[in-house]
Formats: sequence, structure tokens, C-alpha cells
Amino acid sequence: MEIEKIALQMLTSGKGILAADESTGTMTKRLDSVKVSSTEENRLGFRETLFTSNKVGSYVSGVILYDETIKQKSSNGDTIPELLNKQNILPGIKVDAGTKPLDGSPDELYTDGLTGLTERLKEYYNLGARFTKWRAVYKISKDHPSQNAITNNAKSLAKYAALVQEANMVPIVEPEVLMDGDHDINRCFEVTSAVLKECFQELKNEKVKMEGIVLKPNMILNGADSGLKNDPAIVAAKTLECLKTNVPKEVPGIAFLSGGQSELEATINLNEINKINDTKLIFTFSYGRALQQGALKQWAKNIHDKKAAQSVFSHRAYMNSLAATGSWKQDKEVLS
Ligand code: G3H
Repeated sequence: MEIEKIALQMLTSGKGILAADESTGTMTKRLDSVKVSSTEENRLGFRETLFTSNKVGSYVSGVILYDETIKQKSSNGDTIPELLNKQNILPGIKVDAGTKPLDGSPDELYTDGLTGLTERLKEYYNLGARFTKWRAVYKISKDHPSQNAITNNAKSLAKYAALVQEANMVPIVEPEVLMDGDHDINRCFEVTSAVLKECFQELKNEKVKMEGIVLKPNMILNGADSGLKNDPAIVAAKTLECLKTNVPKEVPGIAFLSGGQSELEATINLNEINKINDTKLIFTFSYGRALQQGALKQWAKNIHDKKAAQSVFSHRAYMNSLAATGSWKQDKEVLS
């Protein structure tokens, strides 16, 4: 399939992406938090529970996998990509190699992973992946992000995206301005604008086809330590303004990260954005924590009771599917 078509399939109306690509270290923290031991079997057990939930293919167009998961087999003998394909869900894969301190500004992070990327992309394509993810992170403080962080992360995001398109897959380009900090929403707007501007400049320099990417940005929010509440109408207006100004018209759509918002906040804010969307851009979700938190807590009560965790996950996915078309309402939150 052409990459433009894959991107549009990822952005199918009323569907979004499940980010289940936590590295083993991050997944271990998540499982520790609910007192489940992080064995290979348990990591697969939880993920397979999500991937086989009722109607998951109606709410989710793609799943981002981690290296371990894309190579695992499900309990019926299918590989995980086969299991997803059977439900019309595109398999995706995280291809960055995580973050390290940035040269010249060690308080900030640089995302690694370009070395050997072409070979890894071939391997992942052969395993069934049709899209990929690379996440750069930027922290906000009085002196951060530095221009060094903005420039160097944009350069590697763009190089990554070009290599992925050459390998016939769609790159999710994820520049995440972190929520941590005591800044207000206007500072988040200003930093996110600068980050996006630089990313798109570098993507153009690398001749990346804009029609064949999906952007995964943060929403525009008050800092988590600011003590300020986020008004969904203001979040939506500022997020839309920021993206309208900085995203080229050829980009087909946006799949937001949740970034530490609660499950409900992430749904409400996406819904508000879609209610006021006056552009051709498609706005959907590519949530990790905001899709999995409740299901993980439920699953941890009894890891053999898949059905209970699946009903929590399906409900959350359904709520976000409604939000992806601006048709979520509070009264739909009641879990039947
Ligand atoms: O890279 C981050 C994940 O893909 C999205 O995770 O929704 O928990 O921020 P999050």
C-alpha cells in the first residue's frame, strides 16, 4: 500500500491509535505500580488482553508495538501483527532507541536511534509493521528548551522520517513538549510553536512527503506543577490555533499523545478540539496511558480475568472514538 493510503487508514474517522510501545523498563514501572511482576509472559498477557478486546477494531486503526511484542506469538499461535491484521488494525513499531543527555546541554534529552535504522526498518516491515514512531522530548523551564535541543531533535526526527518513508512505512513524528513544570498555557503554546516550526523546516529539508506522515504532538496545556486548571475550551482553542499556524496543509492529520493527562481529561480535550475544528486536518488520539490506565488496574486484580479488563479498555477506546468525531458526551461515560 502507498504511504499516503496507510496514513489515511491510520486516521480513519472515529478511530485512533493505541500506543502500546512502552520499553521493557517503562512497562516494568507500569506493572510494578499495580504489583504485577514484569515477566515476558505478563507483558504479553496484558497486551494481548487489550488487542483482543471486544470491538477493538472499530475504535483503533493501529497499534504501536515494542520490539519485544512485534516478535511474540499470541495464545492462538498467530504472531501479534497477524492478530492485529485479522481485526483490520495496522501494526506499527517504535523505532527510536530512547533518550540520552544532549551534548552541550546535559539537563535536556536527545533521542537516539539512527544508527542501523535502515536495517531495523527492513526487519520490522518483514514482520508486518506498516508505520513507525519516534519520540523527541522537550522540557520547559526558564531556560529550556534550548535552541540546541530544538534543532538537534528536529534534525533526527526528520532524518528518521525520511528513512521510514523510503522503507514504505508511515513515520509518526512525535515531538513531545512535556507537561512537567510550573509554566502556564501561553508558555506551552510558545514552546510548542517553536518546536513544530523547526520540525517542519527539517522535514522539508529532508524532502519528507507531508502527505505520508502523521504528527503526534502534545496538546497545549498549563504545566502540571503550575496549580492552574485546564479549561477544555481554552485548551482546544489554543491547541487548534497552534497546529493551524505551524502544520503544513498537506499533512493529513494529527494523533495526540496524552502525556500524563487523566483518561477523562484526554477524552474531553480531544472532543473539544474536534467540536471546533474548522480545518481539513483530522484530529484523533494515539494514547498510551490515557487508554490503558483503567484497564491495567482492573487486570491487576486478577490477571486471568481478561473479560473484566477488556470491558474497561473497550469502553475507554469507545469514548475516545466518540471524541475523535466530537460526539462524546458525559452521560456516555457510564460503563454498562
Ligand atoms: O510516546 C509516548 C506514547 O506513544 C504516548 O503515551 O499517551 O501515555 O503520553 P502517552
